[in-house]
Amino acid sequence: MTHFLNINNISDLNKMVEEAIVLKANPFMFQTLGAQKTLVLLFFNASLRTRISTELAAKNLGMNVIVLNVSDAWQLEFEDGIVMNLHTSEHIKEAAQVISQYASIIGVRAFPSLSDKAKDQSEWVLNAFSNLASVPVINMESATAHPLQALADAITIAEHRQSQAPKVVLSWAPHPKALPHAVANSFVRMMQLQDVEFCITHPEGYDLDPNIIKDTPVFYDQEKALQNADFVYVKNWSSFNDYGKILTPKTNWMMTQQKIGHAKFMHCLPVRRNVVVEDAILDSVQSLCIEQSNNRTYAAQIVLKKMLESL
Ligand code: CP
Repeated sequence: MTHFLNINNISDLNKMVEEAIVLKANPFMFQTLGAQKTLVLLFFNASLRTRISTELAAKNLGMNVIVLNVSDAWQLEFEDGIVMNLHTSEHIKEAAQVISQYASIIGVRAFPSLSDKAKDQSEWVLNAFSNLASVPVINMESATAHPLQALADAITIAEHRQSQAPKVVLSWAPHPKALPHAVANSFVRMMQLQDVEFCITHPEGYDLDPNIIKDTPVFYDQEKALQNADFVYVKNWSSFNDYGKILTPKTNWMMTQQKIGHAKFMHCLPVRRNVVVEDAILDSVQSLCIEQSNNRTYAAQIVLKKMLESL
């Protein structure tokens, strides 16, 4: 594996999930693979899970890890040919080459603006690093994708599935802040590649990118979509068509124990209690979200392992 920018970079998804579950049982089985290799993690945005689980995964493989909050470094310029006489101090052309000298692998987290759709869709930060760095790049959540989260979600479903093709529902939830589409996008793509019965439910106006949805069934009727669900993945996202906007409040879309029935509850975290989902679900054995967070380590570890084997 060279870069890990989205799920399409995984050649055999089922095998990858199986290998991650094996790693989880014995996290130190490849503890010399990363010796004398360094992972540099660049955070343009906040993180709890990605930051700690990716570092832990690298250390389980014997790697050194350096974490940089990009806000602590010189302000980066991404535009080509620009006269840099304003607030930016260092061009990505130098920065990516310089970091590549210190790193065997680079991880990048860079959220979208949610104001400039075309620019966000172009993945200008992630692609600048993957085009200009001379080492592999891992997407730790970009403007449009969160493949490490989706891989952890696939591992979690594989561990908990009770039937060959369980029913999985992605259910939109209310949220006071406008949130990106990355988690939903990658989860949709991941489910399209899995042996599951999958559908999406959200209020009108919250349709995701049609290039991602393709022929996945979408219901505006949440109750209808949730019927006979085995796994319910709850997530907010802002409007894609009315880009980055929160439309009229839909507080009645919060996930409740009555709505979810006996299905397992999934969420990438962080989650706002009693806005996105009620306490009764999060505090019950139906909730898999702590296990999803645990599986972030093994998702990152299997990706790093493949990259180290390709160096
Ligand atoms: N789910 C997730 O990516 O969590 P963090 O934003 O805390 O890394």
